[in-house]
Amino acid sequence: MDKRRPQDVLNLMQQPPAIKRNRIDAPMSIRGPIPNGPMHPRPLVALLDGRDCSVEMPILKDVATVAFCDAQSTQEIHEKVLNEAVGALMWHTITLTKEDLDKFKSLRVIIRIGSGYDNVDVKAAGEMGIAVCNVPGYGVEEVADSTLCLILNLYRRTYWLANMVREGKKINGPEQLREAAQGSARIRGDTLGIVGLGRVGTAVAIRAKVFGFNVIFYDPYLADGIEKSLGITRVYTLQELLFQSDCVSLHCNLNEHNHHLINDYTIKQMRPETPHSSGAFLINTARGGLVDEHALAAALKDGRIRAAALDVQESEPFNLPTSPLKDCPNLILTPHSSFYSEQSVSELREMAAGEVRRAILGRIPDSLRNCVNKEYFPSPANSTVRFPFSAAALSAEGLNGAGGYVAFNPAMAAAAVAMGVHPDQRPVGSHSIPPSSAHSDANHAGKAEGSG
Ligand SMILES: NC(=O)c1ccc[n+]([C@@H]2O[C@H](COP(=O)([O-])OP(=O)(O)OC[C@H]3O[C@@H](n4cnc5c(N)ncnc54)[C@H](O)[C@@H]3O)[C@@H](O)[C@H]2O)c1
Repeated sequence: MDKRRPQDVLNLMQQPPAIKRNRIDAPMSIRGPIPNGPMHPRPLVALLDGRDCSVEMPILKDVATVAFCDAQSTQEIHEKVLNEAVGALMWHTITLTKEDLDKFKSLRVIIRIGSGYDNVDVKAAGEMGIAVCNVPGYGVEEVADSTLCLILNLYRRTYWLANMVREGKKINGPEQLREAAQGSARIRGDTLGIVGLGRVGTAVAIRAKVFGFNVIFYDPYLADGIEKSLGITRVYTLQELLFQSDCVSLHCNLNEHNHHLINDYTIKQMRPETPHSSGAFLINTARGGLVDEHALAAALKDGRIRAAALDVQESEPFNLPTSPLKDCPNLILTPHSSFYSEQSVSELREMAAGEVRRAILGRIPDSLRNCVNKEYFPSPANSTVRFPFSAAALSAEGLNGAGGYVAFNPAMAAAAVAMGVHPDQRPVGSHSIPPSSAHSDANHAGKAEGSG
């Protein structure tokens, strides 16, 4: 079966015919709050590049209709989603440029199910009044542990030694062992250079110290002082970091300033092989675009870089036969899997769905926890179409998002208060799974859950 047919989306939607909603934002190019509540069809939320909504559904089913698209580009997304989806959930296998964003007529919020958001034009989205959110903290420990795993493999050559044994190579005596394990090195006393001391970089620094690394970092966006808290050393230029490091590990986010941060020129600044040094290792678990793979391939082939490990590649999913990295010695490649553990992924998905829920029940972007493009939203002076939601409205979750409705209907606001919804209550947090509302669409929910 061709699982990418856009018609699949329709199979999931058991909604009555949609009421045509006029965009209240058109004249100001900013989008209003998400219509919701008893007088509106449930807002449509679409998972753009996946099929499994089984974690998201229990969190959203009382406030939204959830559909999946399983698309790799917006051309594969059904018109109904392009016209009506107010929320989009996306992994990292689809890209949303300005042209793609223009195709969505009702979109108010995009949630990247992950921490990097370089596959969305966040500026264009913000200018259209579409909030983009990420889930920053979900897999920090997994990525840091995977980074250490790769660093240890480069130093201890475990990956290559295990492959030798698997291939049947017999090691007889110290001479053969020396040959097989050539390049294995001691960690204690070596310098690990961390580029980007954010959540993951910090977790890597803490772990690396325990192994005996002398840890240094470069991060031009941090104020002074963090080096003292962590007991590590700060350097103020990338050149200095590359010059001092025996092992360089990349942990910055990819942005318009650091594409190909590691290139032919900067590789020449890394420690070369000399009688006193064996050259430097390179690890990238951040983003593929940080490394010029042609330059890295050349450096691995002529030994200017001692060995490298990449969890992320410039083009994903990775295709080795067409990559400049094919035939490179001393290279470990993993399939953008550093973040993965069963726990981290269900945490991630719960957090992403919780953010969609906040978008539906609250104000965009104010109610969102991890909106990354607030600064591009039209100025408050122009955003009067964003009707304020009363505290009572925000708290009226049990009313199937009556909060959104109350904002448009003062009589309903009064009714919500009369029903005992205290104005000081807040919406439930992202991790809690709300009880199904009295009128939840079980039929629809069953279908979507079955699909995952
Ligand atoms: N491989 C995976 O599975 C996986 C999973 C999660 C995150 N990531 C990636 O890991 C990286 C780190 O994630 P995080 O959550 O720690 O991000 P973060 O935003 O917490 O930290 C990034 C840090 O990089 C710094 N930075 C930005 N540009 C820089 C530059 N040119 N030079 C030096 N520092 C720079 C920032 O100031 C920030 O402190 C990101 O690229 C993210 O996309 C990968």
